[in-house]
Amino acid sequence: MKNGWITRNRIIAAMAGGAFVFIVGGAWLLIYAGAYNIAADAPHTGPVYWLLNNVRERSVAVRSAGIEVPADLRDPKRIAAGAGLYNEMCSGCHLAPGMERTEISQGLYPRAPEFSRGTDLTPQQEFWTIKHGIKMTGMAAWGPTHNDTLIWDMVAFLQKLPALTPAQYKTIVKSAPEDHDDMMRDMPGMKQPDDGDHH
Ligand code: HEC
Repeated sequence: MKNGWITRNRIIAAMAGGAFVFIVGGAWLLIYAGAYNIAADAPHTGPVYWLLNNVRERSVAVRSAGIEVPADLRDPKRIAAGAGLYNEMCSGCHLAPGMERTEISQGLYPRAPEFSRGTDLTPQQEFWTIKHGIKMTGMAAWGPTHNDTLIWDMVAFLQKLPALTPAQYKTIVKSAPEDHDDMMRDMPGMKQPDDGDHH
């Protein structure tokens, strides 16, 4: 009786082990054979898209949940500063009101969302994504080169962006308080505007 029980457990363990080796081996063979097309001009298969989408959404939602939003996100100065940064660093991929689609925006996969059409991200999720970036997408982490204040300025601007006409967009970008180099002055590791390298 007891022996039979042990034998049955052994058989189950051997079958589970066999299945594991089969799945891992099969997956490795598919990878090694280059079966999956990693090209940016060939859309993901349905299951891979579903998986990556869920991984991204849950990862961002969980990691951004505790972030505290500054109270002054509606401050026009913040919005103007964010507009200057956005126009310079983000519009090439995410576009802007009145802007033609750029070459890079047409070749990216996944596509960079057009923020002038609005987004369902919370300000916390936007902040986290801008600061940390998203692996294997072209969305860079801006945290290594920009402090939290500047990143919140961009988030402040993103709240405003969907409501802007092309003319309003131009005006608000022109009203950016300082140029990029000036805004970056306080960042460690950045070239100082007055260190002689500036032309
Ligand atoms: C080189 C192109 C590129 C540049 C430049 C870029 N992004 Fe992105 N960004 C992307 C791509 C591509 C995605 C989509 C990633 C995905 O779907 O997983 C993205 C996603 C995002 C998201 C998340 C959107 C969502 O709905 O999940 C935010 C927020 C964002 N970018 C903000 C910015 C800001 C702000 C800047 C400028 C500081 C910027 N990006 C610069 C390519 C870019």
